[in-house]
Parts: sequence; structure tokens; C-alpha cells
Amino acid sequence: MSSQIASRIFVVGGTGAQGLPVIRTLVADGKYSVRALSRDPDSRRAKALLALGNVSILKGSFADEAILREGFRGCDGAYINLDGFNTGEKTEIYWAIRCYEIALEEGIRFFVYGNLDYALKKAGYDSRFRTGHYDGKGRIGEWILFQNQTNGDRMGAAVFTTGPYMEMAISAMTPMMPLVEDGVLTWRVPLGNGTVPHVALDDCGHYARWLFDHPERANGMALEVAIEQVGYQKLAEAFERVTGHAARYIDTDLDTYWNGPLKMAARLPAGYNADPNDKSTMSFRDNFTGFWNIWKHNVIQRDYALLDEIHPNRIRTVEQWLRLEDERGRQQRKGSLWERVQTDNLLKSTPLLKLTEDGRKGAL
Ligand SMILES: NC(=O)c1ccc[n+]([C@@H]2O[C@H](COP(=O)([O-])OP(=O)(O)OC[C@H]3O[C@@H](n4cnc5c(N)ncnc54)[C@H](OP(=O)(O)O)[C@@H]3O)[C@@H](O)[C@H]2O)c1
Repeated sequence: MSSQIASRIFVVGGTGAQGLPVIRTLVADGKYSVRALSRDPDSRRAKALLALGNVSILKGSFADEAILREGFRGCDGAYINLDGFNTGEKTEIYWAIRCYEIALEEGIRFFVYGNLDYALKKAGYDSRFRTGHYDGKGRIGEWILFQNQTNGDRMGAAVFTTGPYMEMAISAMTPMMPLVEDGVLTWRVPLGNGTVPHVALDDCGHYARWLFDHPERANGMALEVAIEQVGYQKLAEAFERVTGHAARYIDTDLDTYWNGPLKMAARLPAGYNADPNDKSTMSFRDNFTGFWNIWKHNVIQRDYALLDEIHPNRIRTVEQWLRLEDERGRQQRKGSLWERVQTDNLLKSTPLLKLTEDGRKGAL
């Protein structure tokens, strides 16, 4: 494996919650430059990327071969996080395969695939755990590692498996949005005694950078990351210690959960451009029922010793993450964490996900 060292990286999903910290970390010291794909180069987020320097924006969609070719051409690295909440599971699988194939053809030296766990397989192919936005990525993660056994000298590849962003637990319009009820911050979710391997977005930047910095070791690697296994009782207790305000977790059965704030979305396709009449299309309710079952039954674990080695300064506990987030909010004049989670403030704040900012609409 001679020259998988990348210097110019084509990023798909760069204006997203995940892409922003990844690009920030890649370009921070001038070692890498980035060409980021966006359907809307005039968006606030695309402009924020340009302001970092060493970033250019290519206008277009990943569901377009000519655009993908233009994006990969002249770059030697790629970070590909396709938005399954746009495409739906079936279409995501097709374009993920084409991304890998076109990247190879266009001479990319190192390819990082933004992955999620193949939950259905990890749960023993039990359909209670079927989660389209996980399995759609996870199947392709395995397929890429398999292709890499024969292609790894021509183009190195690594699969970067993240998980629910920790930020989602204190954000509006997410499956784990909390509400202040009688002065108590309350998470009502169907988690039982299970745990969520939540991910810190800033640490994603470090991990992605590590993969490009260490192509010899990263080639063929499935890097699966998380802060820790976060039970929501633990989350509530940590929140109380950090803010001095009451918080609680209420285990909620699935029917009650789906009659709560997400009721209106339950029957919609999980991917906003997926065909509701296609029988392969999962509804929000089916998709996120599988999602919660994954965590409730602790299907997914991580190798935390490996993460400590790769990222010695990583965020290791949910309490540490909450403390950092509290400080960050104060520095950015957004207020304390307790102020930020007041329902009115949550609903008014800038959405974490671009998808939410765009009202779940946009071109495929
Ligand atoms: N939410 C979570 O906790 C979480 C955790 C891990 C992984 N994920 C996965 O990450 C993916 C979404 O990324 P995100 O979390 O960063 O969400 P996000 O903030 O909503 O960002 C979506 C990104 O996808 C881009 N995009 C969407 N459709 C596109 C298209 N047709 N062509 C080109 N770019 C397109 C958007 O770019 P423009 O709008 O600028 O074109 C934007 O950069 C999903 O597949 C999701 O399953 C989510």
C-alpha cells in the first residue's frame, strides 16, 4: 500500500450535522483541502464551510453520476455520508454502491464511508430490529470492506460507523427530544433499561481525520465510535449534576411514544423522497421502532479501548459531554444548558440537522 495519502478530499454531506465538524477538523491546519457537495451553495451552512478556507463547494446531488464524477475527479480522498433520510433505504444502497465504484474509477486513493451499524444482522436477522436508515448503510459498509479485499491497493477504504448524535438528546424535533414538564427535564422514550452508544459530533471530526492521517492502518478498518453506552437514567442524573436542575427518564411503551409528539410523522416515509407507495419504504414508525429496539436490547457495543488509543482526549462520559456543551453554549451566548432546553428555546434554536432546517424537503 504505497500512496493512499490523500490531500484533497471530496465530501458528500458536508453541510450536515456530521459533515461540518468533519470538514472543520480536516482543514484546520492546511494539511487537507475539501471539495464539498451541496444542492444549495447559497445556504447558510455552505457559506460557513467556505469561510473556513481551503473549502470549495460543488453544486449538485449525489444522485447524479456526472456530479459524482466531477466531485471525485482531481481529489485523492473521499468522505461519503449519504443522506438516507432523503433517499430512503433502497435508493441509498444504490447510490452508495455507485459512489464507491465511481471513486475507484476516478482515482481516489482513500475512501471513507459514513456508516451506521448493520443492526438487523447484529440482532440475528430478527425483524423487530429492522431500521432502514441503519441497515441501508450497514449492508454497504460490509460490501465496501469486501470489495476492499481486492481493491485495497488501488484505493484504500475505511468504514466509519457512528450512531445517534449526543446533541440529538437536547435538540428539537428528534426522536429523543426532551420536554420540561413541571420544571423537570423529561425524556419519554421506549428504551427500557437499554443504552444508546451516543456519539459526540466534535469527536467525529477527530476520528475522520485520523482515518485520513493513518491510511496504512485505516485501510480495511471498520471504526465504530461512541462516547459510552448511555442509559437515559444516567443521562438524567448527569444532567442534574451539571445544571443543578431536575431531570428524569420515563420509560415509555411504543404505543404511547407514537401517540406523543411524533404522532404526525409516524406514517410518513422515513426518507422524505422515498416513494410512499413502494412496499420497501419504511414509515417513520416502523423505522424508529426498530431503532429503539436496537438500543433497548443493547444490540450494539463498541471497543472503547480502541477508541481511547485512537483518540486519547475523546469525550468518555455523557456527563463530560454535558459539561462541555454547557460551557460551549455560554461562550456562544446561547445561554446555559438549562436555559437552552426550555421548550420555547429549543424550538427557536438553530436546528442541529440540516434536514430539519430545510423542513424535510429538497431534491433527490
Ligand atoms: N441524526 C443522527 O443522529 C445521525 C447519526 C449518524 C448518522 N446519521 C446519518 O447521517 C445522514 C445525514 O447526515 P447528517 O446527520 O449530517 O444530517 P443533516 O444535518 O440533515 O445533513 C444532511 C446532509 O446531506 C446532504 N444531502 C442531502 N441530500 C443530498 C443530495 N441529494 N445530494 C447531495 N447532498 C445531499 C445535505 O447537503 P445539502 O442540503 O447542502 O445539499 C447535508 O449536507 C443520514 O443518512 C443519517 O442516517 C445520522
